[in-house]
Amino acid sequence: MRYILSPSLLAADFGRLAEDAGAVRAAGAQYLHLDVMDGHFVPSISFGMPVIRSLRRISPLVFDVHLMIADPDRYLADFAEAGADIITVHAETVLHLDRTLNAIHDLGLKAGVALNPATPLSVLDWVLPQADMVLLMSVNPGFGGQQFLPYSLDKIRALRSLMQARGLETDIEVDGGVTLRNAEAVLDAGANVLVAGSAVFRGDAGANTAAFTEILRKREAAR
Ligand code: DX5
Ligand code: ZN
Repeated sequence: MRYILSPSLLAADFGRLAEDAGAVRAAGAQYLHLDVMDGHFVPSISFGMPVIRSLRRISPLVFDVHLMIADPDRYLADFAEAGADIITVHAETVLHLDRTLNAIHDLGLKAGVALNPATPLSVLDWVLPQADMVLLMSVNPGFGGQQFLPYSLDKIRALRSLMQARGLETDIEVDGGVTLRNAEAVLDAGANVLVAGSAVFRGDAGANTAAFTEILRKREAAR
């Protein structure tokens, strides 16, 4: 199992996205988490394809695109063309999850499924083998800087154990309220991809990234 940090640019300074993306890369981040919000599925509006396309020109990181938008099927090809490496859709936003995961794979990308805190794991039962990653929201999506919902730890544990029971090593990404203080608990529960927005970009992004990657490096070494 690989342990990965995916810093969320939502918490970065939008006037300095290139510098911030460079800083987290220099400090050891492997992914860049790109939160796309439409003001419909979630209350807030963030950014879309043009911003991702511009970042693609300057960053070699794995672009981990989290679509918090209604009807994401309409835009999958656009996000692929803009430079996404992984596209994660919310189970709550698609009618035909199986078809959507296939469509992402047909574009040559990795496919993730995101679940809101209140959405049961059972929606994954029949499509789990088709997902490269499951993103568990540990806050209600829409804003950075919220508090981690404590019951998320039980949900992570339940997902990891049902994956193990089925012989799957799918990535579990946890998104929302992840900090240097709770990262160990989130990893202990079974996550292997950490999203962190505020905990990286509030303050010294390079130093914060280095602190997260040190925790992740120790996990890799301890395996
Ligand atoms: C929330 C987004 C998150 C957010 C995380 O709707 O999906 O990726 O940026 O931000 P923090 O780490 O500040 O909770
Ligand atoms: Zn996100």
